[in-house]
Amino acid sequence: WETFVEDIRAIEVLKRERNAVILAHNYQTPEIFHCVSDIRGDSLALAREAQNTDADVIVMAGVHFMAETAKMLNPHSTVLIPDLKAGCSLADSITGADVRLLRQRYPGVPVVTYVNTSAEVKAESDICCTSGNAKRVVESLGTDRVIMIPDEYLARNIEAETGIRMITWAGHCEVHERFTPGEIERMRADHPGLVVLAHPECPPEVVAVSDFSGSTAMMDDYVRDHKGGRILLVTECSMSDNLAVRYPQTEFIRPCNMCPHMKRITLANIRQSLENMTHEVTLDPAMASRGRRAVERMLAI
Ligand code: 13P
Ligand code: SF4
Repeated sequence: WETFVEDIRAIEVLKRERNAVILAHNYQTPEIFHCVSDIRGDSLALAREAQNTDADVIVMAGVHFMAETAKMLNPHSTVLIPDLKAGCSLADSITGADVRLLRQRYPGVPVVTYVNTSAEVKAESDICCTSGNAKRVVESLGTDRVIMIPDEYLARNIEAETGIRMITWAGHCEVHERFTPGEIERMRADHPGLVVLAHPECPPEVVAVSDFSGSTAMMDDYVRDHKGGRILLVTECSMSDNLAVRYPQTEFIRPCNMCPHMKRITLANIRQSLENMTHEVTLDPAMASRGRRAVERMLAI
């Protein structure tokens, strides 16, 4: 505990000295999320805030693709990621060359890319989406078919909501793909009155047995608007921990799954990153400007 307090104090001083902000995703542990971050939220909120901040330094308490998106949207800021190995199974599932092959195979079909991808993949895309705006983005294209990559389950879940046919890729989130309908049914039997909120990165059969599906920010809004009750968040573990601090009248039922990539970020390495200005995220300017177009097109919706 004393080390935590010492790190928190040091981070506050360093933030002022460097004119830095810390952006924290909802899956960061409570001591990062509640004690040192300046901006908190889902992938969409973090992208918007990265675009708008006038800080000299952005520390991304999240994973590498989020830091790349921040750099794309705010090329004049120094963007730091405290651990370069904080990756993502979805981002690792596809390359820019794969997207070019898909375009050749399905000429004229628009390519919608989840933000959980590398800058190289965004650069090959028509438009990006997050789990918070995927439905709106897909509907905005006005086509009956869309290439939606790399999250197969997100694409299938959006297909079910919109009726628009999806050409998919076999990428999965290693956290959400592990949930099963049987697990949800057992939880319902054990906890009467349980309300189940599932992230759309979960398999469609899991979403089908849930009461609500949405991004982490949409889950937050749901808990805020339905004060109290018993809630199972079918997502990463820190989501319930962070909401439990803000909504003590709600009973959060676990199980949850942990994201090993998000958990690479700690108070200690955030402090080191501000002390040593590590690890700076840099992007090839031509690739960054092509990727920025796809992200900005999404943000304009
Ligand atoms: P959102 O916070 O945008 O819902 O994304 C979840 C996620 O898995 C981010 O890595
Ligand atoms: Fe990637 Fe899933 Fe971890 Fe999010 S939770 S960073 S999608 S592996």
